[in-house]
Amino acid sequence: MAKYRSWALLLVVALAMIGCSSKESNDVEVFTWWASGSEKSGLDALVKVFDEQHPSLNFVNGSVLGGAGSNARDVLASRMAAHNPPDTFQVHAGMELADYIKAGQVQDLAAMYTENGWRDVFPARLLELLTVDGKIYSVPSNVHRANVVWANTDVLTRAGVDPKHQPANLDEWFGDLDRIKATGVTPLAMGKDWTQVHLLETVLLARLGPAAYTALFDKREGWDSPQVSGAIGDFARLLTYTNADSQFLDWSDALQQVIDGKAAYNVMGDWADAAFRDQGKKFDVDYTAFPVPGSQGSFDFLADSFTLPVGSKHETAAKAWLTTVASAEGQRAFNTAKGSIPARTEMDAGDYPKYQQIAHESYTNDVIVPSLAHGAATSVRWLADITTAVREFGTTHDVDKLRTTLVAGATKNGP
Ligand code: GAL
Repeated sequence: MAKYRSWALLLVVALAMIGCSSKESNDVEVFTWWASGSEKSGLDALVKVFDEQHPSLNFVNGSVLGGAGSNARDVLASRMAAHNPPDTFQVHAGMELADYIKAGQVQDLAAMYTENGWRDVFPARLLELLTVDGKIYSVPSNVHRANVVWANTDVLTRAGVDPKHQPANLDEWFGDLDRIKATGVTPLAMGKDWTQVHLLETVLLARLGPAAYTALFDKREGWDSPQVSGAIGDFARLLTYTNADSQFLDWSDALQQVIDGKAAYNVMGDWADAAFRDQGKKFDVDYTAFPVPGSQGSFDFLADSFTLPVGSKHETAAKAWLTTVASAEGQRAFNTAKGSIPARTEMDAGDYPKYQQIAHESYTNDVIVPSLAHGAATSVRWLADITTAVREFGTTHDVDKLRTTLVAGATKNGP
């Protein structure tokens, strides 16, 4: 009898272990910074397709809120150091991904690309940003545009600014900002650190043009030019139009001031479009969008993508997630909700809201330049140095000091 009982006990333990390991192996922890608001709506839309395509797998949400990923990247770094990576994580295409590749933290996905024919469904110039030495390290989910001004049409009209007229350059825009200031409304809503870097990058692009802007990063050249000094001067002037509480706000809070009519403009990537739509606002009626004045003809590019980290505990499930990310259904569901355009080349414009149709046209026809604030242009370390300098500038307003620090940063963060 005792012998029978110990066999039964063993059987129960074994069954429990099988049950437990099969449950664990069905989990896939997906690490992103899409934790709230319209960003979460986008992620939810993608998860819905994942659940349909892989009903036996279990999506585990590993999102870390805020900071356009800066908070998430800190958490990720400590998890990597503790050999506890998520099963897959969100990363920007370009130099940010290159950091993880250099550190040997992400796996080569070339075999998956071959097996699934993905080299034919993504544009070659995007694949280049994911590839090092013929190995390809992530699967892109979307393409966003960073050089966009978002405006509340009512606030503009009340100040006598025609919402249909897009200012041709920064000087013309300053005139509109002055007109709005005179009505007592905040002309330009802005958030903290990274959102200020985002604003600065678009001003650099507007003043330097696409070639000289790109050379700042890929050649690390031109930081000491009079054009960069001029752009810092413009940036300083733009700060005079901003809200007093900027240092406490993330992008969604700053944008909310525009949505609520408490501010006229916000410079933000086109995830902003999803936030307006999520709150029932209509493009070209309640809000409008145009390229940061002076940056017309450039598409300030960033793309999110997903990796397979070295040490992922549920590789098969993580690969299933990557397959959903790459799929036409996954991209359509995610991007219509997120404000982005699909990373895949095919896009049925009729499936997408008006703003995204405009963005797609710009992506197709304009010069593509890499976003600084969103990991395309620089390493994480160089971006962190620039962010610190820009944050300090918010208090010192010392144009020369910012320029000298930016020049030094370009040398320090060499290849
Ligand atoms: C970007 C990211 C976008 C969006 C944004 C704001 O870095 O690529 O998808 O989420 O941050 O958090």
